[in-house]
Amino acid sequence: MESTMDSKRSQSSRGEEEELISTLHKRQGLNSFNLNLVKYQGFWYADMSLVATTISAQRHFQAQRSDIFVCTAPKTGTTWLKALAFAIVSRTAVDGDSTADPFVSKSPHECLPALEYAETFAPFHRDPRNPLIATHVPFSSLPKSASDSSGCKIVYICRDPKDTFVSMYHFFAKLAASRNMEPVPLNKAFEFFCEGASSFGPYWDHVLGYWKASLYQPDRILFLKYEDMKENTAFHVRKLAEFIGYGFTLEEEGNRVVEKIVRMCSFDHLSNLEVNKNGKIAENTPWEMENKLYFRKGTVNDWENHLTPEMAAHMDLITEKKLSGSGLNLIYACVVDVQVRIKLCPSTKLIVPDSICFPSMESKRNQSAHGDEKEVTSTLPRRAGLNLFYQGFWYSDVSLVATTISAQRSDIFLCSFPKTSTTWLKALAFSIVSRTTVIDCDSTADPFASMSPHECLPALEYSETFTPFDRDPRSPLIATHIPFSS
Ligand code: A3P
Repeated sequence: MESTMDSKRSQSSRGEEEELISTLHKRQGLNSFNLNLVKYQGFWYADMSLVATTISAQRHFQAQRSDIFVCTAPKTGTTWLKALAFAIVSRTAVDGDSTADPFVSKSPHECLPALEYAETFAPFHRDPRNPLIATHVPFSSLPKSASDSSGCKIVYICRDPKDTFVSMYHFFAKLAASRNMEPVPLNKAFEFFCEGASSFGPYWDHVLGYWKASLYQPDRILFLKYEDMKENTAFHVRKLAEFIGYGFTLEEEGNRVVEKIVRMCSFDHLSNLEVNKNGKIAENTPWEMENKLYFRKGTVNDWENHLTPEMAAHMDLITEKKLSGSGLNLIYACVVDVQVRIKLCPSTKLIVPDSICFPSMESKRNQSAHGDEKEVTSTLPRRAGLNLFYQGFWYSDVSLVATTISAQRSDIFLCSFPKTSTTWLKALAFSIVSRTTVIDCDSTADPFASMSPHECLPALEYSETFTPFDRDPRSPLIATHIPFSS
């Protein structure tokens, strides 16, 4: 009796879902097999069936306290995060010999069930040995039991939108080629991505959903960045393991298990495994894909090889607008850009203050030579009136780009965009730090009686190029208009 009622209930809810899905907005975008995207709850899904399985998960899936969700937007490091999380939770098998490596026989994608790829209306199948569940579904569309009530853990990874786009563009282009279809041209793909019309886009909204949730529920949601993970993978593996309740023991540390996991999940190791060179996932289904599509370069900053400076600046502008006031910075590649340049060309003097970005660059900085700066600045794009485009921003003069400084812990940077009240901020900060002379308010003690606020502070980018930055020993203040990422 009960099963008949259940089946009637499930038939009627299926009918409602089908009706709802048929009314959803569709459009062209950056997507698998050039399919039309379908908009559901503010995000673009690859097709109707994915919306149907997502609705089904929203209605029927019950998260458990022990579940660990691996959540990502496509092309932000899903494969890597899945591999790391799986290696962590199943690490009794990680003893370093190749037979114990779980990725020798299957792609990381096959190690985790995916929430929205589970069969619609079938109960979600959990592997009792594996608490991990993968999903691309945005935070706001997760089943309620996962987003608020069950106490399960959520791990999210994001990536610079420029690299995410470049990765996605190549992925879909190769996917199209594998089915003898025309790939979407780069410019069109860029337009789609910027409009938010990409698989599980708008990308920025996807990131913001998880970011904001992680601020409210920091004990339940871990927010990671691809670039940070590349910079120090072992640190983040320890952090991830600790967060999901699988922290490493001293004995494991002694046995260098963290390093083994890092190596086992590295791009080089995974991409060279036979299964990832020649294997396929979702074989004999419409979603069949070659595993090798998930491995391209695995680097930070590859956007430089594919986007024009104008495209990069355009996307950075969108990112700044979208993330404004959120406390999240995703324009990370520019910072790394300087680092990479310094690494490639150790004598370059395009230096970012140590205490802000690069704790270990001092020795390289000391090798500076003038010729290299000229070489770099002479290659930068120019435009009448604005003159010089550097790291996504326009500078009025070549000399402004060539600044040398080694920041000290005691420095206080006053950073502003021109005409946003730089003068006022300089005056206030200078009055505060020099107030023993200002506090009595008589005119001789007023520093501004004889000097403009601009004369009270040295300016980072107006200091003389190639000479050491000149600090006033009585004032820790340094002014600059240089963008944060530079
Ligand atoms: P690139 O196209 O920039 O090389 P996803 O896994 O979310 O689909 O993202 C794919 C991106 O992650 C690709 O980026 C891919 O090369 C990179 N990637 C795959 N495995 C990786 C790994 N083990 N370490 C670092 N990056 C990896």
